[in-house]
Formats: sequence, C-alpha cells, structure tokens
Amino acid sequence: GENMLWGGRFTGGLDPLMVSYNESIYFDCKLYAQDIAGSVAWARANHKAGILTVAEFSAIESGFKEVKEEWDSGSFKIISGVDEDIHTANERRLGEIIGKDIGGKLHTGRSRNEQVATDMRLWLRDELRKIESYMVDFLKVTAARAEQEIDHIMPGYTHLQRAQPIRWSHWMLSYGTAFASDLERLREVISRVNLSPLGAGALAGNCFGLDREAMAKELGFEGLLWNSMAAVSSRDFVVEAMQWGSMCMLHMSRWAEDLIIYSSGEFAYVRLADAYSTGSSLMPQKKNPDSLELLRGKAGRAFGQMAGLMMTVKGLPSTYNKDLQESLEPMLDHVKTVSDSIQIATGVLSTLAVNPAKMKASLDPFMLATDLADYLVKKGVPFRETHHISGQCVAFSEKTGTPMNEMTHGDFKGIDARFGEDVLKCFDYEVSVEQHSAQGGTARKSVLEQVEVLKSMLA
Ligand code: ARG
Repeated sequence: GENMLWGGRFTGGLDPLMVSYNESIYFDCKLYAQDIAGSVAWARANHKAGILTVAEFSAIESGFKEVKEEWDSGSFKIISGVDEDIHTANERRLGEIIGKDIGGKLHTGRSRNEQVATDMRLWLRDELRKIESYMVDFLKVTAARAEQEIDHIMPGYTHLQRAQPIRWSHWMLSYGTAFASDLERLREVISRVNLSPLGAGALAGNCFGLDREAMAKELGFEGLLWNSMAAVSSRDFVVEAMQWGSMCMLHMSRWAEDLIIYSSGEFAYVRLADAYSTGSSLMPQKKNPDSLELLRGKAGRAFGQMAGLMMTVKGLPSTYNKDLQESLEPMLDHVKTVSDSIQIATGVLSTLAVNPAKMKASLDPFMLATDLADYLVKKGVPFRETHHISGQCVAFSEKTGTPMNEMTHGDFKGIDARFGEDVLKCFDYEVSVEQHSAQGGTARKSVLEQVEVLKSMLA
C-alpha cells in the first residue's frame, strides 16, 4: 500500500504472515530512545551541511521530543502492519506531528542500515556500562567478605576430593580473579561497541558531506567505524558482547555449582538466605537453592544465543542482509539474562551465611599428607622420596585405623628414621595454610594481598 516505505514500487499487498514475519517493531521498540537520539544528531548534521534550514531542524528536534514523550509514557500507538520497525514508526509519527513535508526531509541520504547499527550500538553500550557497575558491586562484596572472613579454613578440592586446606576467602577470591578478568575484558568490549556507524549510508557512505565526527561526538561515541560497508554489515559488536557474556556466565555457573554443593546437607558450609531460595510444594523440610540453579541454567541459554547469532551471520554476503535483523532478539535477551544474573549473584553472596564449624569438621588429616612430605623436604630429603614416605604413613594410618594426626612420634620413626619430634606439628591446619605464603597462595598475608589487587581494579 502507499503507507509502505517502498510503496512506490510494490503495488500488490504483502502476504499477511509475511508482514508479521518481516516486522521487528515489537522487539526493536526497546531502542526507541536511541533511535530518536540518532535521528536528532542526524538532523543537526544535515542542518550544518545546509540540507535542512534552522527552522526545519528545530521542528524535527521538538517533534521528536514529543514522540519520545509518547514512548516514555506508554501512549505511543504502534500501527500494526504499517510500523515495520522502530525507524519507520518514529518517522511516521514525526511526520504526523510536524507535517510530512519537513518530516520527509529527515531521511535524506540516510539508510536504515546505518540507523539500526547506530541504535544497537548505543543501546548495547549503555547496557554494558550498567553491567560493568553490577560487576563492580559483585566484586566489592567478594573483596569485603574475603577480608572479613579470612579466619575460616575449609577443605580445598580437586576432582571433588578433599585435597588441601585453604582459606574460605581464598575460594571466594579464586572466582574473584576470574570475574576481575571478565571486568577487564568488558571494558575493552565497551570501547569497541562504542564506535559510530552513522554516515555510512546504505553501504557506500554519505554524499552530502556530513560531519561524521560531530554526529559521533553528540551521541557519545568514542570514534568512527571507518569503512562504510563494514559499518553497516558488522554485528561483531553483538557477537563479542555475547561472547563476553557467555564467558562471564560460564564463570557464574561454576561459582553457583560450588555453592550448590556447599549448601547441601552433607557439606552445609553455607546457607542461602530465604530471599534466594524456595521451598518444595511437597516436602516441608526443603529449602532449594533455585537462584544458584538458575544462574547455572541461564548460562546455557546465554551461550546458545551467542552460538545462534554466530550461525546467523556466518556465510552472509557483503553488507546488509535481512538476516541481520535476527541479531536484535538474542542481544536483548542475552543482555537481560547476564545483567539479571550478576545482580542475583551479588544478592546471593551478600546474604549468604557461612558455617565455619562445618568447614572445620570436614577437614581431614590426610589433607596434610603433602605437608608431611614437605616436612622431610625441609630436612633435605628429595621430594620424590618424601612423597613415597608420606604415602607409607597414609597406608599405616589406614591399616591400623589411627587417624594420621593421632600417630605417635614412634609410629613415624618406625616408617622413616628422619622424622623428628616436631613432625607432630605438621597436623595443624592453620600452620598448613600459613606455609603457602608465596604470592597468590592461601596464607593470610597472600590472601590479603589478593584482596588489595582486586580492590584496586574496582576504583
Ligand atoms: N529492521 C531492520 C533491521 O533490524 C532495519 C534495517 C532495514 N534495512 C533494510 N535494508 N531493509 O535490520
């Protein structure tokens, strides 16, 4: 029909299913504010280039102010079948408010191809900045708890088998380190997202001599996307943001998995606050860690959206193809998933109760077998030999049913004459963790150093 943007050429009506299949308005309307900001910057540049008079520019600017107020207040009426996407909807409404003659000049030399890329980059930049602040909040809680709860000693695991004693703070900081790298990566991603495609046209650039730098500056972009063809066709910025989100959720799901295990009755090292757990409709005693399970589960969803978009863009021919419209929904959902997840994780961590007595009760003297080997190393025995001797002590303990920390000096001496009286001092978990005082280890001083490194990234 004549309301259609390309109505001049197409005379037959569209298949009604094709109309809804093609339209993006019901999801890209989330980008209304970015679309309007981009259009105002566009109009200003056109005014400066002599294409719009000052009066025309002012009409466009104030007209868009009204359109934005309608969206803000929820009174904007989408016309089904006419408003194909947010760009056509905003322009249609602008024309109704300020008249089609002026409204129709706005799109001079502009393509929706550069428009949609601009809107998405602006939206994503702002959302990623919010996510950055949520990451900082999460890491602040991690650093604060690590500092306050440094006294608690728990079993550290490999293969989910008790391995060596560690500080609870050291466990928290192990994830803190991963999330801190995520934070660094996020800051880099934001700087690549925050580049302007405006002025790229449909693909070949702008022929009215628009000042691309000025438009970019007005919109808060840090620079330009140089090649116009790349600028309209690239969805690398979405893919990269989702790769980032996938990595972050990967860490989040492992963090959640540890806490799910630690909150089970068999471990009971931690207890989730009621605000982040649910009960069972059948079993009255149950308190389930749903928040953590959702963090773990949503990681799969976030990863799927990333993989889906990579499949969508692979093999596309140069510049704009409608397939690219398929980048919007995964982006919107992925970003919400990641953003909500980080905030939930912060809530979980800041309200989590720890049970240091349970942690302590789970420590096993066998976890000090390595310390026993290290004891002889310090007496000059080669490690390969001490490992074997310590293994014999473990075997003695198992065979006689004597816990290793209850074996006598005589028992040890019977296994190797080089064991002195002071061997009994090995069986102190505090002494064990404090021996790991090299940088990055689980000794108090090394853990506090890690807290400082983490804090310095959060300023
Ligand atoms: N709704 C479209 C999208 O999201 C806008 C760009 C349309 N461009 C085009 N040449 N049909 O990709």
